Amino acid sequence: MKSPFENKNIVLGVTGSIACYKAADLCSKLVQLGANVDVILTEAAQKFINPLTFKSIAHRPVITNLYDPESEIAMAHVALAQRADLVVIAPTTANMIGKLASGLADDPISLTVIATSAPLVLAPAMDANMFEAAIVQENVLKLKKRGATIVGPITGRLASGLTGTGRMIEVKELIGHLSAELGKNSQLAGRKIVVTAGGTIESIDPVRILTNRSSGKMGYAIAEAARDNGANTVLITAATQLSDPSAIEVIHVENTEDMYKAVIKASKNADALIMAAAVSDYKARLKSPHKIKKGSSNSPYLELETNPDILAEANGAKVKVGFAAETEDLLKNARIKLDSKGADLLVANDVSSSNGVFGSDTNKVTIIGSCGFIEDLPRMSKYSVAQNILHRVVEILKNRS
Ligand SMILES: Cc1cc2nc3c(=O)[nH]c(=O)nc-3n(C[C@H](O)[C@H](O)[C@H](O)COP(=O)(O)O)c2cc1C
Repeated sequence: MKSPFENKNIVLGVTGSIACYKAADLCSKLVQLGANVDVILTEAAQKFINPLTFKSIAHRPVITNLYDPESEIAMAHVALAQRADLVVIAPTTANMIGKLASGLADDPISLTVIATSAPLVLAPAMDANMFEAAIVQENVLKLKKRGATIVGPITGRLASGLTGTGRMIEVKELIGHLSAELGKNSQLAGRKIVVTAGGTIESIDPVRILTNRSSGKMGYAIAEAARDNGANTVLITAATQLSDPSAIEVIHVENTEDMYKAVIKASKNADALIMAAAVSDYKARLKSPHKIKKGSSNSPYLELETNPDILAEANGAKVKVGFAAETEDLLKNARIKLDSKGADLLVANDVSSSNGVFGSDTNKVTIIGSCGFIEDLPRMSKYSVAQNILHRVVEILKNRS
């Protein structure tokens, strides 16, 4: 499983909005992810940003005029449309939305949209009053009905200085939506994958908590990789420092009990449950409704009770994957956990402090299968670890169908 952008032909249309500067960042990120990016700028867009910016980033000619005899589009006016794996217009003006909804083709972007069978993603950006206008809403609905994916706009500070819904979606989130679009027909298409992430938080009193060092990054990477391979993905998370990934159903929970309930419900009809969360095995037996005061003499005594064992008890999904974070006897303990929890796969990672797993973007894991295999992976990005785990999940699902 590779990056969904690798060697993909992406047409990036840029239209005349203040948000044009964000398109340069988008173009750069797509190129870094391995895509071949053909950029088209409308005449209005060229008032906001110079074509040279995109030419330098994409290392390809930029199309600015339908009838420029030197440009590819003038030689073969539907060439870009035919080779595109995806067309994204970011930012998309009210004007362009109107043109696309009406089927006009009098500029290189609208012409390409009409001539392509590739998925179309629009990221509108405009003043809030413009986006709320009945005609814009009608046009948006029309385009959605025809299969276009419209992401944003989001609420925030607008160029006018006012706050409203009209801001172009952030580039990171937009890339998530593009990933999901490109992965729609991949290996996990039609599958439901439930992923847990983060360290659960158990209250002791209104200010004190019991938790652990898990950042949630591993679980988020699995959820994103599942989405990028076409899965309908549900992420149940206790992480507090990460932003929600795009095109994924995200359920926020705080403690183990709530995560347990959410997992049981979501995994009932799932193809796989991947439990990357670091759940608290214990919680305070009695939660104080008031802050426990510092005593004058004796140290306070905290009585703990056991939390539900989510991995052992969640048996609704076809495939169950657990994680074992160990500081000693990694493989032995992981094997015991695999057997005792009835999991199909166990991902073992050494979390002793010298390994720097918590909060890191990389991980070094060993995957153990209930059928006996042991795969010791080198250190790699958490996204690559996620792809390796999902590859194993795909194999198990195939064998079982
Ligand atoms: C300073 C300035 C900022 C603009 N920003 C936007 C915008 O964010 N969104 C939008 O829909 N139109 C915006 N417009 C209007 C468009 O540029 C105008 O409708 C233009 O015809 C769009 O052409 P295009 O869709 O072919 O790029 C802005 C105009 C000006 C002068």
